[in-house]
Amino acid sequence: MRLEKRIFLSPPHCNGQELEYLRQAVESNWVAPAGPHLPAFEQELCTALGGATELHGAALVSGTAAIHLGLRLLGVQPGDTVFCSDLTFAGSVNPVLYEGATPVFIDSEVGGCNMAPAALANAFAAAAAHNRLPRAAIIVDLYGQSAAWGQLLPLCAQYGVPVLEDAAEALGASYAGQACGTFGAVAAFSFNGNKIITTSGGGMLVTGSTESAEKIRFWASQSKEPAPYYLHRELGFNYRMSNLCAGVGRAQLLTLREHIARRGEIYAYYKEAFAGLPLQMLPAPAGSEPNNWLSIALLEPSNAPLTAQQLVDALEADNVEARRAWNPMHCQPVFAGYDYHTAEAGVCASEDFFARGVCLPSGSGMAEAELEAVATRVRRLLGGQDIPARSKT
Ligand SMILES: Cc1ncc(COP(=O)(O)O)c(C=O)c1O
Repeated sequence: MRLEKRIFLSPPHCNGQELEYLRQAVESNWVAPAGPHLPAFEQELCTALGGATELHGAALVSGTAAIHLGLRLLGVQPGDTVFCSDLTFAGSVNPVLYEGATPVFIDSEVGGCNMAPAALANAFAAAAAHNRLPRAAIIVDLYGQSAAWGQLLPLCAQYGVPVLEDAAEALGASYAGQACGTFGAVAAFSFNGNKIITTSGGGMLVTGSTESAEKIRFWASQSKEPAPYYLHRELGFNYRMSNLCAGVGRAQLLTLREHIARRGEIYAYYKEAFAGLPLQMLPAPAGSEPNNWLSIALLEPSNAPLTAQQLVDALEADNVEARRAWNPMHCQPVFAGYDYHTAEAGVCASEDFFARGVCLPSGSGMAEAELEAVATRVRRLLGGQDIPARSKT
């Protein structure tokens, strides 16, 4: 039966404090451009990442902008190649083309969503053989799961290639106890409307170097030199986050841990509810403590009665927003013709993930009744019995 109230995939989840920070900004007239919420948000996000090393953030208008300026910081230039995770959102890769560089796509692990170390090793071997090592590697922590940093980082170090960690979806996740967003030489976060916390739209570049963070803020503000008149020595960008958005981000950070906990409950609920169905809930890889940003169901192609698209369409007919998994970059017409490396010849793990993966509603504001409504529909569509009423504990 079609639901009257739509269940969204991952809508914003406000806690009320956003209004207070916005009120402060308006009352003090720090509506534009920068203002006190900006450095506070940068510092609070870095504190939330914890860890032994000091971190510095530059708040920007989007995660894509963070990746763009991160590439410039790593010295990517026209004609360079950049290794990129193949299974990701286009925002991970577009900045490579903004800089006139060439992406080379690296497949994901079989049954997983992040870059396969064996595929990366193959790509490095091929690049070294042609004396064309990449200037940088953009490695994604997809769907709130950390990449296999224990294997990927030593490979990149072996070839002397710096890593830009795309942690857009992974705020609050960790690997071997270390926060996602602290593995790369630089890392990018996104706070767009569907992320685990949002600033309406926004992103942040995080680095261990004060000078690098300062440079990013400078480039993001049109590279305006500190002169008594307009003076620009370098190309600039209008990428700085507004004080209003930073205020929303500060409020959202206060409930990051609650958001993560709720998304974990949602994942566990689906996992229990779908036991026995021809699907698997994407498991967290060894060492990874995910933030469960999105719960992903991987259909078993041999005996699922529906394809991933049919499942998404059937849920949509009932006013439930589910989405297909990311469509791999090497399959995108805009990136046609760029190299693509797999672990094993002819085995394209990212294509298999796309064919089988469905992102289910996972918003941290989801009510129990909504969760049950989604799970019941998925069970029926996949030929399962109705879920017995859940005991309230
Ligand atoms: C993996 C990944 N990388 C990059 C981005 C780009 O972030 P934004 O939408 O803030 O530009 C996103 C999110 O949209 C993403 O999911």
